[in-house]
Amino acid sequence: MKKSDIVNLLLQEKESSLPSREKSMAFAPSNIALCKYWGKRDSELNLPMTSSLSVALPDKGAMTTLIVQDASSDTITVNNQQISEDSKFAKRTIEYLDLFRPQKNWHLNIEIKSDVPIAAGLASSACGFASLVSALNELFDWKLTHRQLSILARLGSGSAARSLWNGFVEWHAGMQPDGMDSFAEPLDVEWQSLCMGLLLVSEAEKPVSSREAMQCTVDSSIFYSLWPKKVNQDLALIKQALKTHNFSLLGGAAESNALAMHATMMSAWPPICYYLPETIAAMQKVWQMRKNGVEVYFTQDAGPNLKLIFLSDHKAIVKEQFPEMETVRLFD
Ligand code: DP6
Repeated sequence: MKKSDIVNLLLQEKESSLPSREKSMAFAPSNIALCKYWGKRDSELNLPMTSSLSVALPDKGAMTTLIVQDASSDTITVNNQQISEDSKFAKRTIEYLDLFRPQKNWHLNIEIKSDVPIAAGLASSACGFASLVSALNELFDWKLTHRQLSILARLGSGSAARSLWNGFVEWHAGMQPDGMDSFAEPLDVEWQSLCMGLLLVSEAEKPVSSREAMQCTVDSSIFYSLWPKKVNQDLALIKQALKTHNFSLLGGAAESNALAMHATMMSAWPPICYYLPETIAAMQKVWQMRKNGVEVYFTQDAGPNLKLIFLSDHKAIVKEQFPEMETVRLFD
């Protein structure tokens, strides 16, 4: 099945394929997975091998503005800088827009304001595609549900399926070949005292994209066959921890899940290692703090940066140990 088949399925009942306005805007928050999505069962539709669970960063994300333009191609600007059509980022965006053009010669001016560095393991593609599809929904007045938007966002980037809500979100792996049961949903849980700190070790674009890295891992890591079992266990623990506000359970399961994901990468061939010396040093500091009775945990995505997880009671002491850390809001 192709991406365009899914788009046709979701948009078939819409009266007109023409936009109902000239301009639209939408924001989507970035999300950090506590139980990771790593590996696809269908790489055309970005259907995952397993379910995953994330928490949104409501103050970090992407605002996408779409303006219909009378021009022979799309123009894309990110934070006021025009992006070359030949860049990977532009190619991916244009290819995604091709799925929705009413006519071949219909083009857009796409302005993205993002407060997360592109491709540094801070879910820039997740909030990027989620805000893009939400802005398209406005422009064409499709009136799609969040669940349908989650399916469409997934076609751009898997983790984007989770970026349509604030709070905790679970993306169900689903089983259907067309992926109509592979969408995300918000969980009815709030945790006001839960904090996250971004520890930026490097803002450089990652050498291997998460897309390439997960494909290489699925294809070559001997340990990958254990990953679905690990996710099932961690997902159950994290959901239980969220229900009971059991922080040790949450932090332990999230950290262990991230470490296991990186272990599958390191056992891939060619090996993939996102750790920098600073990443390891920060991990060791976290482990030492726990030994000293300060409960702080980390998670790590496809990049060298860590996200620290702690409770508000420990905010001051964590900040003292990691002065460069940026604490981000999770809940009001
Ligand atoms: C490590 O969603 O970027 O951040 O579906 O190929 O676009 P594609 O991959 P992407 O992968 C995210 C991987 C991760 C884990 C996660 O967010 O769950």
